[in-house]
Amino acid sequence: MSLYRNAIWFLNGIHHYTRKGYEAAAKDFDKDLDVSVVGRSFMITGANSGIGRATAMAIAKKGGTVHMVCRNKDKAEEARADIVNVSGNTEVYVHIVDMSETRKVWEFAEAFKKQYPSLNVLINNAGCMVHKREVNAERLEKNFATNTMGVYVLTQTLIPLLQKSRDPRVITVSSGGMLVQKLRVNDLQSETGCFDGVMVYAQNKRQQVVLTQQWAKAYPVIHFSVMHPGWVDTPAVSTSMPQFHQMMGDRLRSVEQGADTIVWLALSRAAARTRSGQFFQDRKHVPAHLPLAWTHSSSEEIQSFMTQLETLARSFKNVGLHPDQGRKWFHINM
Ligand SMILES: NC(=O)c1ccc[n+]([C@@H]2O[C@H](COP(=O)([O-])OP(=O)(O)OC[C@H]3O[C@@H](n4cnc5c(N)ncnc54)[C@H](OP(=O)(O)O)[C@@H]3O)[C@@H](O)[C@H]2O)c1
Repeated sequence: MSLYRNAIWFLNGIHHYTRKGYEAAAKDFDKDLDVSVVGRSFMITGANSGIGRATAMAIAKKGGTVHMVCRNKDKAEEARADIVNVSGNTEVYVHIVDMSETRKVWEFAEAFKKQYPSLNVLINNAGCMVHKREVNAERLEKNFATNTMGVYVLTQTLIPLLQKSRDPRVITVSSGGMLVQKLRVNDLQSETGCFDGVMVYAQNKRQQVVLTQQWAKAYPVIHFSVMHPGWVDTPAVSTSMPQFHQMMGDRLRSVEQGADTIVWLALSRAAARTRSGQFFQDRKHVPAHLPLAWTHSSSEEIQSFMTQLETLARSFKNVGLHPDQGRKWFHINM
């Protein structure tokens, strides 16, 4: 079955995830991005590089206030200077946070909530594929800590701020690689068996899809979406998947093409009219499962996953979530 899944996924990718796939899809795009977002604020994690940087640039050009959440000060300041210079928008701010450090993510989000009166859009873009098993200060496996726990804690902590902001949205940058994975709930820290960074990454990306679906049910005021940017020529691909990068060469998308659907989900009125909680590719919602791939999860598995995240989050902070929010997870109607 997994061979079938992988073969279907790769063929699908060659048709749709490449530069040509984007160009074919873009023929049907409407002029949904002819908007000004002056006065709206956007937080983008991993905004100093690749898809996140292209997203920050596009939003700054439309007049939005941009909060860049990055781990490296020098890289972040260099990217900020370029974005301000090209866009002419000075409302671009840098926040230094390592998204793999769970407690630090929570502390940052709590401080942000106190400092800023509103946040209209959160874009969970930062991601990693670490091939060797490493752990963070809380002893969480690094891929999981960055791609899942960081996203969970940041989003969950900022939800009260988003809820009181106008037209709030949360967009999470997942990957088509998640299509080959079924949610696994028994080994979130990848402690058993042989460690395979590619599969752990793909599992985290599936977890992001499940999280988005659950958030959409729990918080109807906010529009949640999760998306695949396509196969994009970025440092993440060239360093974490060098063979794939070399094999795909010019067929990889540009960073602007990879960012397009994120920008559309963040800015357009058309995106806000779509149902919350869906998976997107090239401005369209697409199935989050391959046909006959047996990757659907039971409500018990999803509940177990959500409960484990909530338990982990509570153990790493002085219980950062409002007690009602915590309780809510246990009563999500699945
Ligand atoms: N490129 C693709 O083909 C592709 C396909 C599917 C999904 N994606 C997803 O797209 C997103 C963006 O990746 P990209 O391809 O644009 O790669 P990229 O250019 O390497 O950007 C990744 C960004 O995430 C940041 N980041 C990683 N770990 C972090 C941490 N612990 N704390 C804070 N920031 C961290 C990186 O910071 P540094 O610069 O400091 O490393 C960088 O800014 C990721 O979620 C990735 O999984 C990409």
